[in-house]
Amino acid sequence: MDKIYLKDYEKPPFVVQTIDLEFELHNTKTLVTSKMQVKRAGKENSPFFLNGEELELISVYLDARELHESEYELNELGLTLHKLPEIFTLEIKNSINPEANTALDGLYKSSGIFCSQNEPEGFRRITYFTDRPDIMAVYTTKIIADKKDYPILLSNGNLFEEGDLGDGKHYAIWKDPFPKPSYLYALVAGDLGCVSDSFTTMNNNEIELNIYCDKGNEAQCSHAMTSLKNSMKWDEERFGREYDLEVYNIVAVDSFNMGAMENKGLNVFNSHYVLADADTATDTNFMGIESVIGHEYFHNWTGNRITCRDWFQLTLKEGLTVFRDQEFSSDLNTRSVQRIADVKALQERQFVEDASPTSHPIKPDAYIQINNFYTATIYEKGAEIIRMIHTIIGEGGFRAGMDLYFKTFDGQAVCTEDFIWSMQEASGFNFDHFKLWYSQSGTPEVDVKTVFDKKSKTLSLTLRQTFFSPTIHEQKPYFFPFKIGLLNNSGHECGLELEDTVGQTLIDKGILLISKEEETFVFKNIKDAPILSLNRNFTAPIKVHTAYSLEEYAFLMAHDQDEFNRFEASQIMASMVLHKLIDAVEANDAMNLSPTYKAAFEKVLLDMDMDMSLKADSLTLPSVSLLMQERAVLDVEAVYVARNFLKRELIRELGADIQTQYASLDRECEYTLESKEMARRKLKNTLLSYMGALKDDTPVLQQYQNSNNMTDRLAALSILANSRGEAKTQALEDFYKRYKDNTLVMNKYLAVIASSELKETPSNVKALLEDEVFDMKVPNLVRSLIGSFARNALHFHAVDGSGYSFIADKVLELDKLNPQIASGLVGVFKDYARLNKEAQGLMKKELEKIVNTKELSKNVYEIVSKILA
Ligand code: PHE
Ligand code: ZN
Repeated sequence: MDKIYLKDYEKPPFVVQTIDLEFELHNTKTLVTSKMQVKRAGKENSPFFLNGEELELISVYLDARELHESEYELNELGLTLHKLPEIFTLEIKNSINPEANTALDGLYKSSGIFCSQNEPEGFRRITYFTDRPDIMAVYTTKIIADKKDYPILLSNGNLFEEGDLGDGKHYAIWKDPFPKPSYLYALVAGDLGCVSDSFTTMNNNEIELNIYCDKGNEAQCSHAMTSLKNSMKWDEERFGREYDLEVYNIVAVDSFNMGAMENKGLNVFNSHYVLADADTATDTNFMGIESVIGHEYFHNWTGNRITCRDWFQLTLKEGLTVFRDQEFSSDLNTRSVQRIADVKALQERQFVEDASPTSHPIKPDAYIQINNFYTATIYEKGAEIIRMIHTIIGEGGFRAGMDLYFKTFDGQAVCTEDFIWSMQEASGFNFDHFKLWYSQSGTPEVDVKTVFDKKSKTLSLTLRQTFFSPTIHEQKPYFFPFKIGLLNNSGHECGLELEDTVGQTLIDKGILLISKEEETFVFKNIKDAPILSLNRNFTAPIKVHTAYSLEEYAFLMAHDQDEFNRFEASQIMASMVLHKLIDAVEANDAMNLSPTYKAAFEKVLLDMDMDMSLKADSLTLPSVSLLMQERAVLDVEAVYVARNFLKRELIRELGADIQTQYASLDRECEYTLESKEMARRKLKNTLLSYMGALKDDTPVLQQYQNSNNMTDRLAALSILANSRGEAKTQALEDFYKRYKDNTLVMNKYLAVIASSELKETPSNVKALLEDEVFDMKVPNLVRSLIGSFARNALHFHAVDGSGYSFIADKVLELDKLNPQIASGLVGVFKDYARLNKEAQGLMKKELEKIVNTKELSKNVYEIVSKILA
């Protein structure tokens, strides 16, 4: 299949200046009329190509003259016109079938609502258009629809006019004054409930805010609305950015491929990121809503006003906007808690991706299907790269760079180089070497060696980087900021004084700038051999290797001033212990609880002054997927056996303390979202997860029954789902009955069952496929049931290959309905190369079955062919 290359980019030969769209909405035959003002920008004889897929062409008029079929070329990819004047009007009529659109790309129907999704290439499924982000046009939309079924008619921009048409029909005209790429176009029509509010901007403009949802769900929109107002205020205060239209509309729909979409003035959201109340949403859900509402709002400046020249630049808007939403959440909540959560997510998802056959730079140089590149790498690693820039030039320099970026490129479609240019120009810092982060891939690893010389009171620190990528040969050493601290043996910080060496710098508060493959830094005036705290606050997205022992990490876990590194030390300790246990399982040796680890765990457990969220994170064992990353050959069962052993030993040894502390935290009180309360629930539920390893599950069932909120209820339910007793059946049945009609809660139910370690999980999952709450056409449900099962390593990697063949079948079934969801799922096969011979043989059979399927989508083909290569 065809690959698209960044190096082949060419400026568009024609630009569309304005486009007036008219829609006559109909379930199976919606009529679209598009009138465009077009101007030639390239050579005189250039053909004009308009993308168009799954469209029924009705007519083409060039400057009011209808073209005969022989005057254009039409195929399944679009329409080509030749011999065009320098300026002209093109009027095209076509029809589309929204009801048949199960790919949820373009215009589709989601439970009675017409709704659109055009990023990255959906607009070509609505009408013929040069569907690329560097064509920025001014859009006007007229929507005509039945008034009873579709009283609400929305598009981008400001409402210009509305009225009745007779015959039960009405119309609305929307005008968006800001030129924009087609991927930001949106249209929604339906009989929707609405919650309204307003926001007064820094220049005293009053903005109307609306959140639309299914009728009856209005009460669940208040957290989203508060988050929206907070986002608007925050972007003014932190970045000086003001909102620019009269109205900001958000629509929540149940069927959506992704989290949400930043369409200009009309965001469309997966209802998962809008609707919430204490009874149905967890603390994590509430935090997710705040961050996604923020994310889409922040796109208005980073993505919409300044957009991407082409899709290779995707991280320009995504990495930057994730950085902005992370900062928003950090400023509103607890910074260190947010940092830990963000890094954990990066390590669990992005590091795995970057070590796999689908590893790619944050700015890829080729793709088959751009939809496959909305990845943890482009988003989360992209955000880390922006964060490094922020670390290097500081908040002041970064803000100056952002101001210059907005001033210089507003209204344009630009490249990542333009962003770097702004940062460099404003700060005076040279980012030439740093730019490699955009074109190289793989997670860099850094080996650390120290030599202390008592006589000269110096410590020399040698860092050696390796920069291997699974997909790119010949990489070069990276440039990155590396924050460190030296702790003396009483746990105090030593001053950092660098011996003068040309070219080495220590910027702001212990940050070294690393640029060579191997580099030695010598610190002077050090009295005793210190212990080093490395990559503090995770200043660089890398893996650090030291020769430190468990005892030394225990020391850091207790004394490091850097909160992130106290957490990191706890995780490194637990990993060291767990890997030893896994080795023991594999070698058939006896397993033992490390006394050093037990003591460190106990110390944290009994520390009553520690922040509860940090405590909970420190007491949480690294996930199975994190542990699997470090194994050369996957032996999934051994990982589970070792992890469960450690949990059981900890509760056996420290059970009394865990239970007393749990009891003291299990207060009955009103549910609030204050950081303190969320931290209390997190710690309580972490302790409960250890108690889940006890024989008696009464306390877990009690929490399930007595809790007044979903966070506590779901925590208990997930533990019970791994137990064998009567309590499990009772809780699961109760949960199902209670929430059967709430699809967002049913997602949780499906995920809990599909994630269980119990041996009946595969058959439970198969039964749920037939359940009335499940629907293969709804992405959230597919991700909850099938996706969770695929990520349940124990069952996915079942030795008989049944997990592989089940998922392969589902991938093929989904590919016919929704290729984007199918390719998301097929990614779970990316551990292929690390399996043992037998497992590899079984998986290979399934991967080949997929690749050899006729009419396979580009989406799935691209992922599977990379895995097999
Ligand atoms: N641009 C969206 C975001 O980052 C994500 C998205 C991509 C949504 C493609 C739909 C389709 O918020
Ligand atoms: Zn985004």
